[in-house]
Amino acid sequence: MGQRLGANLQWPTVTEPIISPDPEHAAAASPAAARAPDGTPPPGVAYPKTIKSFVRRAGRTTTGQAKAFEELGPRFVLPYTAAPLDADAAFGRNAPLVLEIGFGMGEATAHIAKVRPDDNFLCCEVHEPGVGALLKRIGEHGLTNIRILQHDAVEVIDHMLPPACLDGIHIFFPDPWHKKKHNKRRLIQSPLVAKLAARLKPGGYLHCATDWQPYAEQMLQVLGAEPLLANTAEAFAPQPDYRPLTKFENRGLRLGHGVWDVVFVRRS
Ligand SMILES: C[S@@+](CC[C@H](N)C(=O)[O-])C[C@H]1O[C@@H](n2cnc3c(N)ncnc32)[C@H](O)[C@@H]1O
Repeated sequence: MGQRLGANLQWPTVTEPIISPDPEHAAAASPAAARAPDGTPPPGVAYPKTIKSFVRRAGRTTTGQAKAFEELGPRFVLPYTAAPLDADAAFGRNAPLVLEIGFGMGEATAHIAKVRPDDNFLCCEVHEPGVGALLKRIGEHGLTNIRILQHDAVEVIDHMLPPACLDGIHIFFPDPWHKKKHNKRRLIQSPLVAKLAARLKPGGYLHCATDWQPYAEQMLQVLGAEPLLANTAEAFAPQPDYRPLTKFENRGLRLGHGVWDVVFVRRS
């Protein structure tokens, strides 16, 4: 189960060198009690230099995406600023706030925003054609409850999201970084999970999905070790009904591969 589809989802083409937080060392991580409310370590405990969870992929922005950027970008793409986000102002209403990290081409994002009109979705992606593709879907479906940050989600979490501001977090099919020497680039590692847990409201949820079994097991282990989080299932969760089967998943399922959902909630 789940042996090859992940390889297909490892999107290709490196165009930029990589620099950023090294979660592996940071994982020396302090227990929850010793952390600041935002999940950062106490004074004197250094989170080391880090490694990005993504590479900037080459990719052409289509004419339709460029048009969507021009017409819808000003309304739906938020500027990255290293200051706390006023979500009510950004969305023009007060509603539960869900963060999505790495929406790719936005297929699942648009579907979920459509079936959950009462929630606000703050969606991070660094791949420009992906941002264009989601803007295009926003236009096609007349969605109003999505805002996009075309920026590294780790920096968004660090600088724009205060403690206990989120009702949910979606991380669907994060880059699996199959090779052992690249595993350290995976998003789901203790330091980031501690920060995510700190930004959830009590009762808020963290939902991850992957088609790469070793990563699925890592998710279960890392989330299970975070003191602020509790699993909603014995181990892997049933697929929540709001998460659609994307074309990648359908292809994998047809080939007999597996998909694993992991859903934890923040303890009160
Ligand atoms: C394998 S793709 C999956 C996309 C989508 N969730 C799906 O299910 O099709 C992972 C995406 O996460 C994005 N990504 C990885 N790390 C990120 C980060 N730190 N901030 C924003 N986006 C990130 C990548 O650019 C890529 O588009």
